[in-house]
Amino acid sequence: MENSEDFLTKQAQTNPFPFLLEIDSASGVFIRDKKGKSYFDMTAGVAVNNIGHCHPKVISAIQNQLQKHLHVMVYGEYIQDAQLALSKELTKILPSNLNCIYPVNSGAEANEAAIKLVKRTTNRHKIITFKGGYHGSTIGALSVSGNENKKRAFRPLMPGVETISLNKMDDLGLISKQTAGVILETIQGDAGVQIPSKKYIHALRKRCSEVGAMLIFDEIQCGIGRTAKMFAFEHFEVVPDVLTLGKGLGGGMSIGVMASSKKTLHNFTNSPMLGHITTFGGHPISCSAAAACLKVIKEEVSLEEVEKKGEILEQEIGNNKEIICVRRIGLMLAFDMISSERVKKVVDKCFENGVLLFWFLSHPNSFRISPPLTISFQELNDAIKIIVNAIEETK
Ligand SMILES: Cc1ncc(COP(=O)(O)O)c(C=O)c1O
Repeated sequence: MENSEDFLTKQAQTNPFPFLLEIDSASGVFIRDKKGKSYFDMTAGVAVNNIGHCHPKVISAIQNQLQKHLHVMVYGEYIQDAQLALSKELTKILPSNLNCIYPVNSGAEANEAAIKLVKRTTNRHKIITFKGGYHGSTIGALSVSGNENKKRAFRPLMPGVETISLNKMDDLGLISKQTAGVILETIQGDAGVQIPSKKYIHALRKRCSEVGAMLIFDEIQCGIGRTAKMFAFEHFEVVPDVLTLGKGLGGGMSIGVMASSKKTLHNFTNSPMLGHITTFGGHPISCSAAAACLKVIKEEVSLEEVEKKGEILEQEIGNNKEIICVRRIGLMLAFDMISSERVKKVVDKCFENGVLLFWFLSHPNSFRISPPLTISFQELNDAIKIIVNAIEETK
């Protein structure tokens, strides 16, 4: 590889065994390397490229915005068309209590801001979070995430955080009148696609309302059509007080969004004024890409087909005897194998044969599949053949 030495010496490494795939270009479901080899991107950049790579309508929205302006001011001062386009598209499809958005730079920043918002709104400081949760890598987001291995070296983290277990009704008693907010990934992604029961989510909502704790749903990974609903909370018929979005929202551009009621978000306006400040949050390029991406999902993506594609993946790969268990909702899938070593062999073999898979940080015995929602049935079948062969060949 031409540039691997520069990559390994001049860029920070996040792990000892990076993929080292040297990217040339990407479009639709494919990523191409510098040697001209094409790969099916079956993780969509970890649940980001929900409408595929470089969707022409997103590219055209970016190009239009490029002709007008880039950054003009710290978020919240000037009226910008791109931000307005995103806020209109998003509030059109959100429930009425989530009628206002605050755009930021990333998923982690959206969660940081959401934690601040519930503290400021309730005048309380305790946060309840969940075992297995992943909310980002900055101090606040890390403090409410579950993976102890990733937290230990960075203590002391944010105080006042208590952890409870998903689907464990008894734990709901820990949510009290001291609790500012409860933060939950509606579907836990990094924990290996853990899906709560409807009964549990209803009880959680009820408990939060009883004690005046605010419910934050983190749909940074599971939102924007990934679960075959526009928002994962629609599966449960429960609405949070604060919703965080990111990843798939940007159509490939970096973005995060915190949505809540206008009344709640008004708490960032006073006492203190500028309760959350972000220079690049609401960047016009990201917002124009996100507004275009939402339109594409509404106009071009059939959520029924997303479900059908998920079923096909579940059956065709899950039926293999080497797969111990599959957890799936829409096109968000985890396949458990006997060990992390076994998973690595499959991921490596798929890579060799032109399919990109990935693992989960907090569930190492599984590989993840979360392709673009726009993958065609033909592409899906072609990728499945390679994955099934890789499972067989590495037995
Ligand atoms: C559920 C969830 N929340 C938050 C984040 C953090 O988002 P970002 O990496 O954009 O900061 C992620 C990223 O993987 C995520 O999956």
